[in-house]
Amino acid sequence: MISDGDVLRIRRRFRVFESKIYANSCSQGALSDVVEKAFTEHLGVWHREGSPWDSWVQQYEEARTAFARLIGAHPDEVAVVPSASAAINSIASALDFHGRRKVVLGEFEFPTMGHVWLAQQGRGARVQFVCASGDAIPAENYDRAIDRDTLIVPLTHVCFLNGFRSDVKTIVSLAHSRDALVMLDDYQDCGTRPIDVKELDVDFYVSGVLKYLLGPSGLAFLYVRRELISTLAPTITGWFAQANPFAFDVRTIDLAPTARRFEGGTPPIPNICAALASLKLLSEIGLAVVAEQVKTITRALLDGARHIDILVITPPDSVGPLVVLQAKDANAMVAKLAERNIVASCRKDGVRIAFHVYNTLEDVAAILDAFEENQDLVVRGSTVKCRE
Ligand SMILES: Cc1ncc(COP(=O)(O)O)c(C=O)c1O
Repeated sequence: MISDGDVLRIRRRFRVFESKIYANSCSQGALSDVVEKAFTEHLGVWHREGSPWDSWVQQYEEARTAFARLIGAHPDEVAVVPSASAAINSIASALDFHGRRKVVLGEFEFPTMGHVWLAQQGRGARVQFVCASGDAIPAENYDRAIDRDTLIVPLTHVCFLNGFRSDVKTIVSLAHSRDALVMLDDYQDCGTRPIDVKELDVDFYVSGVLKYLLGPSGLAFLYVRRELISTLAPTITGWFAQANPFAFDVRTIDLAPTARRFEGGTPPIPNICAALASLKLLSEIGLAVVAEQVKTITRALLDGARHIDILVITPPDSVGPLVVLQAKDANAMVAKLAERNIVASCRKDGVRIAFHVYNTLEDVAAILDAFEENQDLVVRGSTVKCRE
């Protein structure tokens, strides 16, 4: 358990809270003192030493190891990439759609997931979308779509639109029983609770660092299950994907035997330095502690919304981190929240309130007060339940 005092001590490390109630970690994690310091130190070293690439490459390897530790993988199973899209593209480029052709993905995926796989249609892929039942996609809907022609099931862990959490274990076991692969997109949850890719038994796992991992944009990680690595040869590639990038051999492709083969060009060192600091901070706080706090705050918002009769789009049993409240005009409600120095965001008709370890019950009270003060924008929805 984390005490209120500990939460406040953590919160003080994020300067945005001096002037704002920050509830937008689903878009961008808040900037901590350690991440700011890491950027400053990186600039200092660059000034002093000019081109200390040996130590920068070492930091890049440290980031790989830190992320591997975070998700229960081996560093050889982790690629360091500039975005989640780059990671997904690398895998898509390595798949052959001449045997199995189907890519089965839910309509709650982040759009990039649709775009990458739809772009593979020219290479033979056939994309089938799994429809939602209201604000949920039950595993049965995947059960109907995954068949013996299915090559891969890209799956978002938490939906960026409504906070719905996929039943990963059931969907993985359905997919594997039909010899299909599963790629888990954990960008909307990674950093809010302990995660073990081996226990989840996913084949691929992707997350960037800018949201709940509290890092900057321009850095993501891809996990590839060890047994799959040597079977996949990406056609989107580059020198950092080679067994020895420093062989400088223009005539030969010699892909790394590790997940580094899914990388491309020079790694984004400033982002890596910053992410190393945020990953360290999160591991010091402890992801189980983060999960507990996120759950407490999420439950308080869900209960509070039910109490004052606001329609909640997120399922009632949610443990966070994203709670989405319906509004008549979500943009207008986000602007009203901003007037009260509350930072949130919206997608379609939902106002997204995203929590991390730095949020408090006082934040929840302020958010609910702001909704109450803007009755004309609130959708009364009786109890907290999924819309049909
Ligand atoms: C769930 C999810 N997946 C993927 C992405 C896209 O990531 P990137 O911009 O690193 O490609 C996002 C970005 O918001 C996201 O929320």
